[in-house]
Amino acid sequence: MMMSAYSPGACDNGEQSRVLEKILKKYKGSEGALIPVLQEAQEALGYLSEETLKKIAKATGRTLAQVYGVATFYAQFRLEPIGKHLVRICHGTACHVAGADDIDAAVCGHLGLPEEGGTTGDMEFTVEKVVCVGACSLAPIMIVDGVAHGRLNPDKARSVIKSYQKSENERSGGGARSGKRAQKKK
Ligand code: FES
Repeated sequence: MMMSAYSPGACDNGEQSRVLEKILKKYKGSEGALIPVLQEAQEALGYLSEETLKKIAKATGRTLAQVYGVATFYAQFRLEPIGKHLVRICHGTACHVAGADDIDAAVCGHLGLPEEGGTTGDMEFTVEKVVCVGACSLAPIMIVDGVAHGRLNPDKARSVIKSYQKSENERSGGGARSGKRAQKKK
């Protein structure tokens, strides 16, 4: 199950600009489309940088302060860069009942993050809690880089994270990487 268009590390600045321009063009002339624009920009770019907010403000005829105000009001928007791998742990009712807190503890403990999530110091992983992702029959579930991993238990969740760490190590020629230094999510 793919759930995100964001491909960490895939966009250079030029590509990011093109992606953003496409989104802004789509909503051109739509009054009140600020939230969908912010949502799509974040989905495509991973987070909303100041540069992105400035471009959105200009294109939507708002001040930077107005756009910034909306982006900071809603918890769904991220203003900080995220790690290469985005791990979303579902905390909807079904997942909560099925043990989402244990999944959180296993994943965050393995990555050396506090249980509320955040980004590892090496910028490899960002872990965040999300509301129901619409696959309750697979509870408890987490989404890693848009791919759903369901019916988890703490060991399975750790194995999933390890498989991403392993492929990273293989890509970087076997060099060990540390995800232990934590950068707390603001
Ligand atoms: S509560 Fe987690 S998928 Fe619905």
